[in-house]
Amino acid sequence: TAPRMFRIAAIPADGVGKEVVAAGRAVLDALAEGSAGAFAFEWEEFPWGCEFYERTGRMIDDDGLDRLKDFDAIYFGAVGWPTVPDHISLWGLRLKICQNFDQWANVRPVQFLPGITSPLRKADDTELDWVVVRENSEGEYAGLGGRNLSGRGPGGEVAVQSALFTEVGCERIMRFAFDLARTRARRKVSSVTKSNAQQYGMVLWDDVFKRVAADYPDVETESVLVDAMSAKFVLHPEDLSVVVASNLNADILSDLGSALAGSLGLAASANLNPKRRFPSMFEPVHGSAPDIAGQGLANPIGAVGSAALMLEHFGLPDQAARLHKAIEATTAAGILTRDVGGSASTEDVTKALIDGLNA
Ligand code: NAI
Ligand code: MG
Repeated sequence: TAPRMFRIAAIPADGVGKEVVAAGRAVLDALAEGSAGAFAFEWEEFPWGCEFYERTGRMIDDDGLDRLKDFDAIYFGAVGWPTVPDHISLWGLRLKICQNFDQWANVRPVQFLPGITSPLRKADDTELDWVVVRENSEGEYAGLGGRNLSGRGPGGEVAVQSALFTEVGCERIMRFAFDLARTRARRKVSSVTKSNAQQYGMVLWDDVFKRVAADYPDVETESVLVDAMSAKFVLHPEDLSVVVASNLNADILSDLGSALAGSLGLAASANLNPKRRFPSMFEPVHGSAPDIAGQGLANPIGAVGSAALMLEHFGLPDQAARLHKAIEATTAAGILTRDVGGSASTEDVTKALIDGLNA
């Protein structure tokens, strides 16, 4: 029989995005090669990003979304470069894809890998394993607002940046979080709120959380203010399993989570369109890291972990587990990039990951 073919659009974009997407592709191709013809990946790479913007004045081709929409998935690097204002590059490419393809659930696992030193004193505990579920379509990143509303000009300018919370948006991300909790050893959902200060949107968030929780009596719940939750990430990470939060709060907490796991370079993420009307997008949590770009220093593990989330999305959990085992074998053997205390290059780690697939 013909191999199951997965068509993937690669968008490396900027900085280390290019290096880690190349690494992830190499590891996935090695995985497919070892599958004895069971599955294969067909790649198409797109040149969008800040260099493209400098040439064309656009972050993505006008027909870009149209060209992406029939792929099985999008494999994304990172967007942003000092030559282009960050709000233009981020809104012009990554947020554009997330919002137009209704990728409303952003899943960001935090796992503690063997051989990596975490700044967290309890991090040897194997139970430290949680997932941040980020509302990815509205909230603080709804793009609602405006500048210079006072009409007063320089010195007197006023800007408004509003957050949008809808009952439908809150409910679907919370149900997603509860369903995910049911697949995990610890069935618990922690909701992150700020309803003491944000009395409209976050109170709706809390109300929906209580209503949805009632449908999942087998799942333990808690509701924690975001400031307290940031302390809890550090002091009681063992008490977390699934953490559901709004767009901004989850963005911040997931960087904290990945730093606690040892480095931003380790953290994986999936932007899911759960109904599968549009392709989902898989990308490391980190940005384009201009400070280390082009030097072979980028840690490819976040990108490879994101590839594992893509395999799960494709219905290949055994293959995702093979990638995870290769990641653990690599870190346990001390083959580490500089961000996690080693001296291996991106290429060294990529090679070790590929070797680990066949171990
Ligand atoms: P960043 O994540 O690029 O870098 C933060 C720190 O983490 C830097 O010290 C960097 O060297 C390190 N780091 C990041 N990825 C690494 C990796 N794979 N291996 C080793 N070390 C790594 O965040 P920063 O500096 O705030 O932003 C840089 C650019 O990236 C900006 O233009 C920003 O807008 C963009 N960005 C894009 C994102 C995306 O495309 N999803 C997400 C976050 C930022
Ligand atoms: Mg972020």
